[in-house]
Amino acid sequence: MDDATARFWDDLYEGRDQVWSGRPNPHLVDVVGALPKGTALDLGCGEGGDAVWLADQGWQVTAVDVSATALDRATARAASAGVSDRIDFRRHDLTRSFPEGSYDLVSAQFLQTPLEFPREQVLRAAAGAVAPGGRLLIVEHGEVPPWSRLAHPHLRFPTPQETLAALDLDPDEWHTERLDAPHRQVTGPDGEPATLVDHLVLLRRR
Ligand SMILES: C[S@@+](CC[C@H](N)C(=O)[O-])C[C@H]1O[C@@H](n2cnc3c(N)ncnc32)[C@H](O)[C@@H]1O
Repeated sequence: MDDATARFWDDLYEGRDQVWSGRPNPHLVDVVGALPKGTALDLGCGEGGDAVWLADQGWQVTAVDVSATALDRATARAASAGVSDRIDFRRHDLTRSFPEGSYDLVSAQFLQTPLEFPREQVLRAAAGAVAPGGRLLIVEHGEVPPWSRLAHPHLRFPTPQETLAALDLDPDEWHTERLDAPHRQVTGPDGEPATLVDHLVLLRRR
C-alpha cells in the first residue's frame, strides 16, 4: 500500500463526517437503470453511495478504494441499507494492485486525484476487467466548478475522445455506446445553483 496515497485520502475523509452526498452518481443511475443485473466493480467507491445503490438494484458488487476510512463508512452504509451480503469491499491502491476477476459492469466515477496517478494504466486495467458482453463506464469531471476556477485557472480534463484513444482498445472487440459531455445540476458550497459538465465514456465489450 502506498502510504502517502492512503494517508492523503484518509485525511480528506477524516476531515469531515461525510464527504459525498450518499446518493448514487446520476449518470451511473441513468446508464445502469436500463441494464440487466449482474456483477459490478466500483473503482474508487468512496463512501459507498454507488455500491449500495447498485446492490440495492440487485447487482453483486465488488467495491474498491485506497482509503480505509472511506471503506469503513461504505461498509456501515451497506449494513444499514441491508445489502452487506451483495457487496465485497476491498482495499486496493489501484496504482499497485487491481481486483481479480471479470465483471458485467466496471464503473469508475470521478476516479480523479490531485496526486500522481497513472490514469491510463488504471483505466486500461479497468477495461481488462470487463467480461464479454459487459460494459465499462467512466465518468469524470469535465471542467472545474465555478467556485474553484480561480484556484485552478489552467486545469483541463481529458475529453471523452481523448480517454477513448488512451484506452487503445481493439475496435473489433469494443463498441462505443456513449462518448459525450452531459450536464449536471449542483448546489455550490454557498448554496448557489450551478451547472457542471462531466465527461462520459460508455463502452461495451463484444
Ligand atoms: C473523487 S473521489 C470519488 C468517490 C466516488 N466514486 C464518488 O463518485 O463519490 C475519488 C475516490 O478515489 C479513491 N482513490 C484515489 N486514488 C486511489 C487509488 N490509487 N486507488 C484506489 N482508490 C483511489 C479515493 O479514496 C476516493 O474515494
